[in-house]
Parts: sequence; C-alpha cells; structure tokens
Amino acid sequence: MQIAIDGPASAGKSTIAKLVAKKLGYVYCDTGAMYRTVTLMALRNGVAPDDAKQVTALLPKLEFKFVPTADGQLVYMNGEDVSLAIRQEDVTNNASAVSAIPAVREDLTRRQREIAAEGNIVMDGRDIGTTVLPNAELKVFMIASVAERARRRFLDNQSKGIYVSIETLEEEIATRDHKDSTRKTSPLRQADDAILIDTTKMTIDEVVNQILALQAERER
Ligand code: DC
Repeated sequence: MQIAIDGPASAGKSTIAKLVAKKLGYVYCDTGAMYRTVTLMALRNGVAPDDAKQVTALLPKLEFKFVPTADGQLVYMNGEDVSLAIRQEDVTNNASAVSAIPAVREDLTRRQREIAAEGNIVMDGRDIGTTVLPNAELKVFMIASVAERARRRFLDNQSKGIYVSIETLEEEIATRDHKDSTRKTSPLRQADDAILIDTTKMTIDEVVNQILALQAERER
C-alpha cells in the first residue's frame, strides 16, 4: 500500500508520516529531505539555488540515501550524514528555488518512485498524490493555519536552541506557501481524490488515528 501525505510547510506532515509508518511497519520517505539535500549540495558548491543549469549539473554526482536507525531515519549525501545540516535556515530558505527547477523535480521524482517500488510506503511532500504516486491507495492533504504552523516551528526551534521570532516565522511560512503553490512544475495542490485534514486544532494522536482508520478502510 502507498500512503501519500501532502501539504504546505510545517503542517505536521513529517511528524505524522513518521508515526503512521512506524505503526504500520511501512518505509517512510521524506521527500522534502531530498530537495533539501540538493539545496545543501548547491550551497556547498557555491552554486546559486536558482541557477537551473548548474544545479542540474550536480545531480549525477549526488548519491542519496535514507538510513534507518533506532533513533530515526538519517539522511546521507555522498556518504556524509547531513541530517542536521539540511535543517539549517539557509537550506530551508533556499529550498523553494531549487525545488522549482524542473530537472531537479524529474530526477528526484524518479528516485522517489524507485524507493516506493520496494514495498509499503508512507511518503510525504508537496506533489506525492498529484505527481509522484498518482495511484496511491490513500492520499491525505494536511493543512493548518499560518499562525499555528508558526507556533509549532517556534516551539520546535526552541527545543533546538534556535531563536527566530513568531512574526518572522509567519512571514517565512507565508512566503514558502506562495512559492510552493505558484511554481510552474508540480505546484502544491490537493489531489482530487485526497482527503483534507485540518490539523490546526488537532493533537498528533488524533491525526495519526484518523489516518490509520482511513488506511484500515482502504485495506478492507
Ligand atoms: O517539507 P520540507 O520543508 O522539508 O520541504 C523542503 C522544500 O522542498 C520546500 O521548499 C518544498 C520543497 N518540496 C517540494 O517541492 N516537493 C516535495 N515533494 C517536497 C518538498
């Protein structure tokens, strides 16, 4: 079974997708981590994130791997653990430009389909239900208000010792929403057959349970 979870930045997709995958014993694929890794590679190589030609030239040199561990999944770029590096603000803020490059989307979509071909999967991102896995048995489109997403990011940052004001986070989230939903290639859009879940007033457990119930229905 394939479960596709899409939605805007900080709507809780990866937290939920990880828990759902764990409960079901499915593989979890965080496609945002893949776009972030290409972004990191560009920044490290002094390539402007919107330079389509030069970013594209880096792709054949990228060996990307998810490595499951007892503490969760690690992200490897050419043999280096970049799990933390890809969460830095400069990567976050440049990932929209990189993910708007059609050749990057094509390359990562191919890699994502290869991962999905290995078995039961929960995949989260922006275009999973619409483009990457259009035949997924269960598609969820997860949203939350900008204020709530900024609040969650603020708390998450706090636990990592990072301080960015709520106002700045709200602005960043709104900017990313706009960029992700207006780009030409695979914009963020709810698939026609996706189920909308607004997590603004829901707990993590409530969202996980709703998805597990939907999965059980599909399995019957
Ligand atoms: O979900 P995230 O914040 O880790 O995503 C990082 C960036 O990658 C974000 O700018 C949106 C983009 N992205 C995308 O375009 N398509 C996906 N399937 C996943 C992420």
